[in-house]
Amino acid sequence: MALLPILRFPDPRLKKVAAAVNKIDDGIRRLAADMAETMYEAPGIGLAATQVDVHRRVVVIDVSEEKNALQVFINPEIVEEAGLAIGEEGCLSVPGIYDKVERSEQVTVRYLDLDGKAQTLKADGLLAVCIQHEIDHLNGKVFVDHLSTLKQGRIRNKLAKQARVTA
Ligand code: NI
Repeated sequence: MALLPILRFPDPRLKKVAAAVNKIDDGIRRLAADMAETMYEAPGIGLAATQVDVHRRVVVIDVSEEKNALQVFINPEIVEEAGLAIGEEGCLSVPGIYDKVERSEQVTVRYLDLDGKAQTLKADGLLAVCIQHEIDHLNGKVFVDHLSTLKQGRIRNKLAKQARVTA
């Protein structure tokens, strides 16, 4: 396994739309394993392949406190959603920035697992938010895209300053 570098907003590669996975082979299994390792190390609760500059529809999530409940979603698609939830979100691609985002409270997601089996999962709470956040990444969207233009400008400035200090 290997740690993968995470792209940082406003890197234009975060805007790419990921392509569907049509065959779950060793390359995809290895990608999922590397993404999981990268997510745990960060540490974070979710990571989309887009964030490690691989533009395929693969997401890893673990919202458990013990960090022992990894979920891998291949070609995830929200087929049903209900309710409204506003929660504070952050992102490994937007370090140090947290803001409120409006999401659906419950989602039903259809996806393939690592064995290529079709699965359907009904999620709510943090898992539902995380699924929506990661699918956004696959569609080239970062959570700050949900915020006002004013806030987005402030975030860009703040991250540019951070990059200058750490570069
Ligand atoms: Ni994110």
